[in-house]
Amino acid sequence: MTKLSVRHLLGIKNLNENDIQTILDTAAQFKEVINRPIKKVPSLRDITIANVFFENSTRTRLSFELAEKRLSADVVNFSASGSSVTKGETLLDTVNNILAMKVDMIVMRHSSPGAPHYLSTRIPANVVNAGDGTHEHPTQALLDAFSMREKLGDLAGKKIAIIGDITHSRVALSNIFCLQKLGAEIMVCGPSTLIPKHLDELGVKISHNVKEALAWCDVANVLRIQLERQQIKYFPSLREYSLYYGINKAMLDDLNKEIVLMHPGPINRGVELSSDAADSPHSIILDQVENGVAVRMAVLYLLAQQ
Ligand code: CP
Repeated sequence: MTKLSVRHLLGIKNLNENDIQTILDTAAQFKEVINRPIKKVPSLRDITIANVFFENSTRTRLSFELAEKRLSADVVNFSASGSSVTKGETLLDTVNNILAMKVDMIVMRHSSPGAPHYLSTRIPANVVNAGDGTHEHPTQALLDAFSMREKLGDLAGKKIAIIGDITHSRVALSNIFCLQKLGAEIMVCGPSTLIPKHLDELGVKISHNVKEALAWCDVANVLRIQLERQQIKYFPSLREYSLYYGINKAMLDDLNKEIVLMHPGPINRGVELSSDAADSPHSIILDQVENGVAVRMAVLYLLAQQ
């Protein structure tokens, strides 16, 4: 059986191309499983997984929980609000108390970059990063790559534009690492205040013109403006951002080419995407969500073999 080179999924940076292909190929098998009338397999029976979320989530948390249940794992869910974290308990104490209840694997979202890496060196369980601050969101990048591969085939040589708030996005960095390892070309596009200095050192093209990015790419992966992470103003107003960087259906139709529109969610409708673009035939946004369950099943299954 093919195994991963890692014991934890902390980021795409730590994976090699073979790991990524193994996860995507395994996810394809699990996608077939979850489209059967009986969607469950016994692969993780007797494994207990805790979903430990210190930050809000809709898609990632539900997707992990469904993936775990489809694999027949036992599941417990922890949210920081309403827990003893509010009384001052440390992250490590909290997780060690969860592990004392015979939990085998931790899926964690945290606002601090590096929090899952810190845990992984201090606890005996496998750790899966479900998003750490502005750093990485590896399962999002894997499900994005899976969804692109389903639509376009081999991603080598394909052109992917990542458009929006790159500075505050964990999805952007994980996408860049993942898609480059699969041979794709990347352009990032947004106002200069929302593109980190020195990003070109990662080998990505940079544009500040959304029409140029759309004309160049096969796939536009549009990111949300992360106002909750912005302590200062990075652009004058949402209205102005939308005017210069918002994408609508007419812009996509006018390209006169096949273009795939993606967004990791949650969407700010009317800001980075108009509703007619988000709901258009170009969009595979809900396919991404469906694929997230299969990809997370693959990640959990493969890590449990380690
Ligand atoms: N894409 C994503 O991570 O969404 P949630 O924040 O809802 O989990």
